[in-house]
Amino acid sequence: MNAPLGIFDSGLGGLTVAAALREALPREHLIYLGDTARVPYGTRSPATIVRYARNNVAFLRKQGVKMVVVACNTVSAQGIDGLTDGGDLPVIGVIRPGARAAIEASAGGPIAVLGTPGTIRSGAYVQAIHELDPDRVVVPIACPLFVPLVEEGWVDHVVTTLVAREYLAPLRGTGVDTIILGCTHYPLLEKTIAAVATEVLGHPVTLVDSAHAVARDVAALLARMNLARREESAGDRRFCVTDAPDRVGDVASRFWGDAVPRMEHVDVMNAPEKTP
Ligand code: DGL
Repeated sequence: MNAPLGIFDSGLGGLTVAAALREALPREHLIYLGDTARVPYGTRSPATIVRYARNNVAFLRKQGVKMVVVACNTVSAQGIDGLTDGGDLPVIGVIRPGARAAIEASAGGPIAVLGTPGTIRSGAYVQAIHELDPDRVVVPIACPLFVPLVEEGWVDHVVTTLVAREYLAPLRGTGVDTIILGCTHYPLLEKTIAAVATEVLGHPVTLVDSAHAVARDVAALLARMNLARREESAGDRRFCVTDAPDRVGDVASRFWGDAVPRMEHVDVMNAPEKTP
């Protein structure tokens, strides 16, 4: 099926997930939507997060997408079932794939989850891990300053290391062997988080992010639903944001791992229906 995959996030961090999809499914067309007018979601109430997410899904549906990937941990953590108004558009979130990847990577020890306050407050990762392994010890930690630090480009900065030491201090003595980077932005802090976690725990840990696990699930679902694009040519990519398309190029390229060619400015509240 030639229709694109829709991917959305509160901002640009979800481009880490889009990049994993590009790698796993190079022939699929992708439409990425970053809600840069309303980012961050991680500090907002569940009702507001769900309202924003529904606007984004409605926008992507109007673009004729065949599936929606919720590339935002904070939105996925509120539950993705109600986002389509009961329609039959398949929607995939990042929490379950991330939890499964952590269980697969772990040697059986406790698993830590780092996320925004919204994600941690929801308990979604703990629940998803316990569905797979009810006895697994989980250590959830909210890290609200990591998102602004990444947005500022301070991925390899002494301030970020100090903040990480503060956030990861509760890991001391827990024996955690795996850490879920439960936020779109945290893969960019992988080096800092790994170094600080090793320092605090006294042994190396495995860091897991959901991007590649989600890409695997999307590929499996496309195949199962017979929705994969059959043409051999590389897929098109469209990048949309709800604010400041001219100012986000650098940050976007950091997450996408390549220069982002063109950002479209879109209005998710008043998008016209796409004519086929
Ligand atoms: N995309 C969000 C997440 O993955 C992080 C940024 C935000 O707070 O909106 O949780």
